[in-house]
Formats: sequence, structure tokens, C-alpha cells
Amino acid sequence: MAAAEDSAHRIAALDAYAAAASTCTRCRLAAGRTQVVFGVGNPDADLMFVGEAPGFHEDKQGFPFVGQAGKLLDQLLERIGLARAEVYIANVIKCRPPGNRDPQPDEIEACEGHLFRQIELIEPKVVATLGNFATKLLSGKPYGITRVHGKPQETRVAGRAVVLYPIYHPAAALYTPAMLRTLEEDFARLPALLAREEPAPAPVIPLFAAPQARAVPTPAQEQLGLF
Ligand code: URA
Repeated sequence: MAAAEDSAHRIAALDAYAAAASTCTRCRLAAGRTQVVFGVGNPDADLMFVGEAPGFHEDKQGFPFVGQAGKLLDQLLERIGLARAEVYIANVIKCRPPGNRDPQPDEIEACEGHLFRQIELIEPKVVATLGNFATKLLSGKPYGITRVHGKPQETRVAGRAVVLYPIYHPAAALYTPAMLRTLEEDFARLPALLAREEPAPAPVIPLFAAPQARAVPTPAQEQLGLF
């Protein structure tokens, strides 16, 4: 498909999915929300951020990361030459938990399909997980953010190869200012991750090579361990 057509198709599919998700009642959080906070940004983004859940301001305004943590996220992006409009931002949980409490396991399970579908439609190269909830869900591993932040992981999300890049949640630096340096250092590695070549598809190796197609190693090749 041509790029423009591809993009128009992606935008339409994402809009249609957001409209369907706006009436979601898959979990108890539907009862207390002002609105579903689906996601915001460039549907063609190579870089997608996944946070935890909407807070007070996100619930009122309908967009992720519009409060204090969002302002810091914008500044961190600016320092690496990116604007919010160039990336896509979503959360693990699309509705505000009461009093900003942690999302419960059953709420994450009920909501994860929305996030997986977003990733499937946006097809980002790099998914930066902000904090423990997004990192554990998308890595499928129990390792916490302190152990894995700043370390890219090649993985599959929603059936697609992506670079998963765990970063501390920006709110961590609001509570612990010393964390800002670590966040800046982890953000500073994002441009290089985005510039990485897509991994070449693995060569198809026939199960039964025709006899004439089989390479006959020379003694020198044999010695070098090429075959
Ligand atoms: N924290 C999050 O994880 N997400 C938001 O949208 C806002 C704050």
C-alpha cells in the first residue's frame, strides 16, 4: 500500500477503535470515569509511550499525560528534539482509578486488549514503557523498572517485532528530583534506537536442499568453522 493510503487507513482504523472503546464497560473503572482516555499523538509514530493510567486532569480533559508528569514528559522529549505531536502516547489503563490508586490485575487484564490493538494499528518501532505497570505487561516478565530501565529489549508485542524500552515513569522525578538525571540519560538513548535499522527478515532455509544447491565446503572453509 502507498504511504499516504496506508496512513489514511491507519487513522481511520484508530479513530473507529477509539470510538468503540469510548463506551467500554469491561471493568469497574467505567462507573467512576468522566471519559475513556484512549491515547493521543501521531498514528504513524515510530515511537510510542505507554504510561500507567489517567489521573485527575487526564480524566477531565480526555488526553494522557496532561498534568505535571505530562509537562515533564514534554520537556524530556524536547531535550531529544522531539515534540509530543510526533510520538503516540497511551496508557495501560484507559480509565482513571479512584483516587489515582494502582490499577488492579483484573482491570489490567480487562483493558490490555485496547492497548494491544493500538500497538497493532500504530506499528511503532520502539515502545517506551513508563514505569512498572507498562513494563511488566508488555515485557511479559516480572522484572521491575529499577532493574530493566534503559535496557532495550527486542520482543514481540501484539504479534509484531518491536524494541521495548523501559524508562522510569516521569512522576518518579517529581517525587525524587535526583531521578531526573536517570530519566534524561534514558531518554538520550531514544534517538539511536529509532535510527536502528529494522532487523532483516531471517533467511528462509529450505528443510530439504536440492543436492545441487548444497554448498560443498573447501578444506579452508571447514577449518574456519563456516560450515
Ligand atoms: N500518569 C500516567 O501514567 N498516565 C497519564 O496519562 C498521566 C499520568
